[in-house]
Amino acid sequence: MQSANEFEYRPEHFQQIKAKVYQLAGIKLSDTKDSMVYSRLARRLRALKLTSFDQYLHYLDSHLQQEQQEFINSLTTNLTSFFREAHHFDHLAQYLKTYPGEKRIWCAAASTGEEPYSIAMTVAEHYGRFDYPVKIIASDIDSQVLTKAKQAVYSIDRLENMSAARLKQFFWRGKGKMQGQARVVPELSNMVEFQTINLLHEWPHKKPFDIIFCRNVMIYFDRPTQLRLLERMAKIVKPGAYYFAGHSENLAMARHLMLPVGKTVYRFVN
Ligand SMILES: C[S@@+](CC[C@H](N)C(=O)[O-])C[C@H]1O[C@@H](n2cnc3c(N)ncnc32)[C@H](O)[C@@H]1O
Repeated sequence: MQSANEFEYRPEHFQQIKAKVYQLAGIKLSDTKDSMVYSRLARRLRALKLTSFDQYLHYLDSHLQQEQQEFINSLTTNLTSFFREAHHFDHLAQYLKTYPGEKRIWCAAASTGEEPYSIAMTVAEHYGRFDYPVKIIASDIDSQVLTKAKQAVYSIDRLENMSAARLKQFFWRGKGKMQGQARVVPELSNMVEFQTINLLHEWPHKKPFDIIFCRNVMIYFDRPTQLRLLERMAKIVKPGAYYFAGHSENLAMARHLMLPVGKTVYRFVN
């Protein structure tokens, strides 16, 4: 545990925080995350001008409605990148070729937007237009990353591995004050609708999906939570819908719901 910190941080503080983030977001923090938790939440203590973790935990309980979003935002891990696990986007392009027509895609842990914009680029490239009726709904529990996603502005070094053709077609390079940054063109950003959704809570979707991208978020949940979410997803997809999982997510326990059709790509058996 931390010592000589700005704020006193005892093992029971970490245990309470761990229990709270599990209860609110389903996220299971391992015991190795104690210093990460300290440094992320120390910022909240400073912002709120609190002087101890005891005070913060009391504040969190007594102002739960106000504070829970900040608490969750502080503790999520939002690592992502454009065309991460590139084989998924090849698979998506192949899917669009095999099953033409209107589609609804849910990107269920969209983080700062790189993933849903990669989906949108794949769709736009496939149809050769931005206005084909493919609806991409991108959601995340973390309101702060979604704000960044909606701004659609990225540092040029985040685009290093993108082909020159994609850069030209899908981004505006910043000039002057925006030097070193690039903005997703509005035609592409308009293809994506962002929503704040906690996967543990109710989902607002009214119509079924053809494809779900739910990558690198299940790893933060325990097995019963993963299974519960997959069972709920199976109920909101069209027959034979596709599911894209993160590279280290093993969904073998859900064989009754979905079968593998590629590397970390599954098909619902509904
Ligand atoms: C590591 S990022 C993955 C981003 C992207 N899917 C990818 O693979 O590159 C995990 C995301 O899951 C989100 N997340 C964590 N718990 C969640 C929950 N209960 N409901 C919705 N999103 C959650 C986090 O805020 C974070 O942005």
